[in-house]
Amino acid sequence: KKIAVVMGGPSAEREVSLNTGKAILAALQEKGYNAVGMDLNPRSFVEQLQKQQIDIVFNAIHGLYGEDGLMQGTLEMLNIPYTGSGVLASAMAMDKGVTKRQFIAAGISTPRSRLYSKLDVEQKKLADEILAEFGVPVVVKAAAQGSSIGVVIVEKAADIEFAVSEASKYSSHIIVEEFIKGKELTVSILGTDRPKALPIIEIVPQSGKYDYKSKYTKGATEYIVPARLEDDVTEKVQQIALEAYKLLGCRGIGRVDVMLDQKNQPYVLEINTIPGMTATSLVPKAAASIGISFADLCERILLMVEE
Ligand code: DAL
Ligand code: MG
Repeated sequence: KKIAVVMGGPSAEREVSLNTGKAILAALQEKGYNAVGMDLNPRSFVEQLQKQQIDIVFNAIHGLYGEDGLMQGTLEMLNIPYTGSGVLASAMAMDKGVTKRQFIAAGISTPRSRLYSKLDVEQKKLADEILAEFGVPVVVKAAAQGSSIGVVIVEKAADIEFAVSEASKYSSHIIVEEFIKGKELTVSILGTDRPKALPIIEIVPQSGKYDYKSKYTKGATEYIVPARLEDDVTEKVQQIALEAYKLLGCRGIGRVDVMLDQKNQPYVLEINTIPGMTATSLVPKAAASIGISFADLCERILLMVEE
């Protein structure tokens, strides 16, 4: 069977996706699979798949077209199996506003937030409104982006307007979210019917902010696996992450980002359905901590594809 590792594409996370895709491609080839790389060109995607006689797609696209359910929909129509989550779970997880409404409806703890559309953003009063409701620090996020692109942690009231304009560059909606002071954690999850949580990673960026630079610069962030938590807290965090993953109906693989406040109360931020698989990425580190090599991890994701 011929596998296409689809990567790149036109999203703001293109570079990250190319790194994710190249690493996966090399791993599959190392395992002996007949795999090729494919840089996603949305206009000729279907033609490319047919011309190259692709049987399975390994989805390595972050963000637009690949993490949001659109490529999944195309592949469903072509009847080509693919790795990871399906159309609905992907679409929901890509949009932090939708994700949060799902969490709230299901009673999954998530930071208090408010969603604004770009129209609201043009109102000058917005900064005052945010300040009155949340104070500072506060987090302003593009609703449908990844890798912290369009995310600003605002520390000074005077910077709120800048944060709003920055976030709205990248998405039609922005989320303003309560800042949770505490530990930044992430839970990698593998599986579909009975998903399992891998050891939790505790993220300690040297700069104090886990932004794009801290995510993708070697040595810029310290990763502690397993996270320094009491057993009962570990279990609580893994449990809530699994609940969130199952709630959205994720398949194969995912990574749930969680903040733990100083009273050990977890808050789920979001779910990443196409988590990064670059040299500095998190899921491969969690897997490695229990002896699953990068190549084994890629193979497991592939073998979970429903044909
Ligand atoms: N969006 C990036 C790739 C991640 O979640 O790892
Ligand atoms: Mg994300």
